[in-house]
Amino acid sequence: MCGIVGYVGPQPALPILVEGLRRLEYRGYDSAGVAVRTDDAIWVQKAVGRVSSLAAKTRLGPAGCIGIAHTRWATHGGVTEANAHPHLDERARIAVVHNGIIENMSELKRELEQQGVVFKSETDTEIFAHLIRSVYDGDPLQAVSYAVKRVRGTYGIAVMFQEHPEQLFVARNGSPLVIGLGDGETVVASDPQAVVEHTRRVVYLKDRELAILTRDGVQVHSFDGRSLDSSIEMLEADYKVADKEGFPHFMLKEIHEQPRSIQRCQLGRIQVEDGNARLGGMELQPRDLVGIQRVIMLGCGTSYHAGMVGSMAIEALARVPSRAEIASEFRHRHPIVPREALFVAISQSGETLDTLGAIQEVQLKGGDCVGVVNVVGSTIARTCGRGTYLYSGPEVAVASTKAFTSQITALLTFTLMLARTRDLSYDKGQEVAQSLHDIPAKVAHYLERPGPIDEAVEAIVDARYVLFLGRGFSYPVALEGALKLKEIAYVPCEAYPAGEMKHGPIAMLEEGTPVIVIVPRDSQREKAISNIKEVQARGAKVIAIHTEGDELVQSIADISIEVPACAEYVSPLITVLPLQLIAYKAGLALGRDIDKPRNLAKSVTVE
Ligand code: M6R
Repeated sequence: MCGIVGYVGPQPALPILVEGLRRLEYRGYDSAGVAVRTDDAIWVQKAVGRVSSLAAKTRLGPAGCIGIAHTRWATHGGVTEANAHPHLDERARIAVVHNGIIENMSELKRELEQQGVVFKSETDTEIFAHLIRSVYDGDPLQAVSYAVKRVRGTYGIAVMFQEHPEQLFVARNGSPLVIGLGDGETVVASDPQAVVEHTRRVVYLKDRELAILTRDGVQVHSFDGRSLDSSIEMLEADYKVADKEGFPHFMLKEIHEQPRSIQRCQLGRIQVEDGNARLGGMELQPRDLVGIQRVIMLGCGTSYHAGMVGSMAIEALARVPSRAEIASEFRHRHPIVPREALFVAISQSGETLDTLGAIQEVQLKGGDCVGVVNVVGSTIARTCGRGTYLYSGPEVAVASTKAFTSQITALLTFTLMLARTRDLSYDKGQEVAQSLHDIPAKVAHYLERPGPIDEAVEAIVDARYVLFLGRGFSYPVALEGALKLKEIAYVPCEAYPAGEMKHGPIAMLEEGTPVIVIVPRDSQREKAISNIKEVQARGAKVIAIHTEGDELVQSIADISIEVPACAEYVSPLITVLPLQLIAYKAGLALGRDIDKPRNLAKSVTVE
């Protein structure tokens, strides 16, 4: 949440910073701001709303060659220009941008106010500017070190001093910062997306590290002042700036990328001939796999839903007890961490603070946690130390789509490995591997002819309430469909396990209430058909997502959307597709901002 960019080099900083903000806008987009050093003063411009509003206001800005910028997702204080970053000290000679939260804000603010400081914003960030000023005597490193040691919380910051025209100062404790080392220029950002156009040589700042950036490079220090070696890494050759590639929105592009992204996730991992799979990064040999007595998934939002599918598959195929946990609940309830359990942390961004907190809780209690992560080199990937990458490529739309199907693919691949060390026979292993292998073609087949999505959208856009129902493997799909519809279209809805509906939510049904039932041809189908009958008896309008050629479901549904046939455990990879499209088209019909829905941000780095 929130995006930081900084630049020092030979070129005018302003256009580089604004372009960097565009690349990071997915991280937060309620306001934006930029600060550029000029010979006389720090020039600041801010705008409420999107980066495009800031861009319009900065066309005639100064040509200074050092600056910092920020795109905000509000935590402390409303969405106003005064609260937008950068924030300045009282003499306007120090500028700060910040991603994260200062937990001891009240105490520090009181202390600074007692010293006579008058705050200009409601943000916690402003504290950094005043704290730095309170001890600054010409030594910027010492002043920034003092501030980071006084602050409790998570943050990434970038600081610029009017008196130090060749240096930027950055520090990290929990919020990501990547430093790009170009040819005579240095760029810092919350994400390599804002760096890759300048250079592929990067240094990932670690927690409790502080760095001085100059156009010639970077010097890294610990918070207690020790000089540290920085390891330079190369961004992967195929890593590039995300592009809509002709689609009107990133979300639609990412939905249509799924045949390729699922295939990339399987590449070199699924071995149909051997009826087995390999995930080298997990560093789990057969004897380690045999020792695993339970598997506990940790994740938030869509990643949690993927974890639910994964744990169902593990119980069904490997017969190992498994469950999925919402990371934000798990981490705060003093959880039991069984020795013989394997924890699997699932995250697209690799930055979700609650998931990170849950991993740290597991590790603190001596538990073993692997990561299933999309963003290479992200905090969660590094904290877990081992696991598997999804290789989905950058997911830019706030609504997660391709990451969900790749997460499930990775978890099913792991399930196959685990199951083959147990009771799953070679033949059955081949069957599972083949089912996974066939999925990309089935996804492509469905996306070519998605069925009456528009009709379904028409039925739900004006509804006061939409109910999603599913059983077994289709229940997490129902949850995911409802999450997508809420976040993209803001249509009131909820998802229920179909069998649980009669214990309450059935009271919500009225004549014409749309009920989306995920009812593929699987072991739960007959019971789900009974649920269709029950809701229809109360006047509901049923939109059924079912297997091609299922004439019975087709005949009873009011709107019938067919998906290709597949094995039960891979069905979420197919049945979620129409739900992604329904949410997308409903958002479109309602005039929503598809890629940047209100109040949300792509990576949630606050609690
Ligand atoms: O980056 P993560 O996978 O850890 O993010 C978790 C959730 O914040 C995320 O899945 C969120 O629910 C999505 N916006 C859903 O589309």
